Amino acid sequence: MTTAAALRYGVIGNPIAHSQSPFIHHAFARQTGIVLSYDRIHAPLDAFAASAGAFFQAGGQGLNVTLPFKEEAWRLAQARLSMTARIAGAVNTLWMHKDALHGCNTDGAGLVTDLQRLGADPSGRRVLMLGAGGAARGAAPALLAAGCSQLHIANRTAQRATQLCADLLAHLPNKDNELSAGGLSSLDGQWDIIINATSGSLDGTSVLPQALDLSRAILAYDMVYGAQPTAFMAQAGSQGCRQCADGLGMLVGQAAASFAIWHGITPDVAPVLTELRERLRHTP
Ligand code: ATR
Repeated sequence: MTTAAALRYGVIGNPIAHSQSPFIHHAFARQTGIVLSYDRIHAPLDAFAASAGAFFQAGGQGLNVTLPFKEEAWRLAQARLSMTARIAGAVNTLWMHKDALHGCNTDGAGLVTDLQRLGADPSGRRVLMLGAGGAARGAAPALLAAGCSQLHIANRTAQRATQLCADLLAHLPNKDNELSAGGLSSLDGQWDIIINATSGSLDGTSVLPQALDLSRAILAYDMVYGAQPTAFMAQAGSQGCRQCADGLGMLVGQAAASFAIWHGITPDVAPVLTELRERLRHTP
């Protein structure tokens, strides 16, 4: 009897020790009966291309890419990018097909499937996204593709939001009516879904303007996750938002979309998310 050789996958970043991706992909593999290995790969800050190249040269099948290499991965797969990756300017999923490197960005898809899981499908909804950095850039194309009626990008540095808006419109000129941008301080209006794509929560800062009316909001969503609700979630709740969620479901969702690209099977996110939440609860 022969045993199938494990297909090799991994996640590459710097730092990388904290990554939950091996846990998630091994759980998907058990669920779908696929034999694979999935490792953390620490790349030196000045040697991403060499590290990724060595992985594929050694027979690796696919890589997830995390901070700070998503833009470099985009350049590396420049010849074969999915539409979302092309627009986002960042790649989190690499794979070899017919000796050519391909790149996709599944972060936005992971976000949209998590919003749907939470009963807040962006289709037809007014969406406010706080932040205009890499995380916002990855999410915006998927939110527009999901059919939100309005996507307003608000950022502390208003010019960066305006630039992101212009970059998106260069690819999606038919979204002119749906897209708008501005500063955080000048923010008003009523929104169905508010998404925090800033890195504020990483140091415990809530970027949500105090005066913002959340009475119509069905969800305040923080892309950051943790064992405890983030500062953004706490503030949104205190300002009357009915439902608040962190980004753990987005993490599992983007992994599921990468898994589907690599293996042709979409795994069930729900049980893995439950396991991961439990695991996070017990992480010091
Ligand atoms: P990432 O890849 O995580 O998006 P980034 O590209 O450095 O990281 O972007 C960080 C985002 O968080 C930016 O939108 C930043 O606002 P500025 O463009 O004005 O810097 C936002 N951000 C970070 N800390 C913030 C804070 N304390 N208040 C408001 N916005 C903040």
